[in-house]
Amino acid sequence: MAAQQAASGRETGGGPTLADRFREHFGGRDHLYGVLLAEMADDWEEGGVTRELFEGWEGAEPRQFVQLRLLAGLFRIVLRGDAPQLVPFYPVLGGDADPEEAWAAVRPVLAAHVEELRASLSDVPQTNEPARTVALLVGISEAVRRTGLRRVRLLELGASAGMGLQVDRYRFEGDGWSAGPEDAHLVIHACGAAGFDPQPFQVVERRGCDLAPVDVSTPEGEAHMRSFVWPWMLDRHLRFDGALDVMRQHPVTVDAAPAGAWLAEQLTVAPPEGVLTVVWHSVTRVYWPVEEARAVDAALADGRTRMPVAHVSMETPWSAWEAAMARPLPRLPRIEVDGDLLGTCDHHGPPVQLERR
Ligand SMILES: C[S@@+](CC[C@H](N)C(=O)[O-])C[C@H]1O[C@@H](n2cnc3c(N)ncnc32)[C@H](O)[C@@H]1O
Repeated sequence: MAAQQAASGRETGGGPTLADRFREHFGGRDHLYGVLLAEMADDWEEGGVTRELFEGWEGAEPRQFVQLRLLAGLFRIVLRGDAPQLVPFYPVLGGDADPEEAWAAVRPVLAAHVEELRASLSDVPQTNEPARTVALLVGISEAVRRTGLRRVRLLELGASAGMGLQVDRYRFEGDGWSAGPEDAHLVIHACGAAGFDPQPFQVVERRGCDLAPVDVSTPEGEAHMRSFVWPWMLDRHLRFDGALDVMRQHPVTVDAAPAGAWLAEQLTVAPPEGVLTVVWHSVTRVYWPVEEARAVDAALADGRTRMPVAHVSMETPWSAWEAAMARPLPRLPRIEVDGDLLGTCDHHGPPVQLERR
């Protein structure tokens, strides 16, 4: 095994091996994926099926999260009913079996679906978490306060299925405040943000882009998106269901395009007088190459010469996140408007902690 580790160390330029990264990802065995990644790390070092699955991916960049891509591929096999023996380990499917027992059942499923699972490594992680729109709500309210403009053209970068574009159709409940329609199909609870004063606004136009948009109106698209929601997070699956209802009633357009080029095109023509263009993104910049981030900045600067633009984001700076991987808890995502810090929030949205002003 030592020789194999030395070889794999060379593959990664002497840095952490895939096995190291699998172990570090959750840093424990508290749930199904923590157990599976720990077991896959051992299996990879021992030359088991995990080696075969990740062959050719040994030098993948950490931010590609190939381990999450594999686990999502496995979840899709379970969701479509091809591995009923694993259902007891998936809480969202009603399972309550001890995750420590899972590896013995999972390993043969991995071995039986090598080709499909290797293909799943090419699927970029596609979590679309509707609760992150609490950050957008906070950002739009601040932008409305600053500009006095309440009619919004919403443009989302890295929109995935487009659930973030439905911000005005969700209801939010925070510390001493609430916002959104009372009959909303999705209510996002425990938003925190004590002292927040939501501003009324109207979305007059909405559109998004993503390198790989997912159409959740199809069964395949729905299963694809669900497979990236961790199976023990029942609240997130319930939110996903609520957002799906909204998406079915109000389909949105998400173009297949990279963020920078798409934004530049969207901002060539100004919207009608009095409309504020809000450019929003959450948990996508971490996946962008540097040139993409530069292209987005350039498109924003150029667009501002023609129209009022507010840039709202919920992102964790990559360098800080990477540095934080060595510590048990990464830094929280920052909610920013035009580069000004409004607060921080959890990786899936609530609760929001507003900055003191
Ligand atoms: C983790 S998901 C987050 C999706 C959504 N923003 C949310 O917060 O729920 C990251 C998304 O960014 C997209 N993405 C990554 N790089 C991109 C790029 N250069 N341009 C556009 N979208 C990109 C991926 O396809 C993926 O859908």
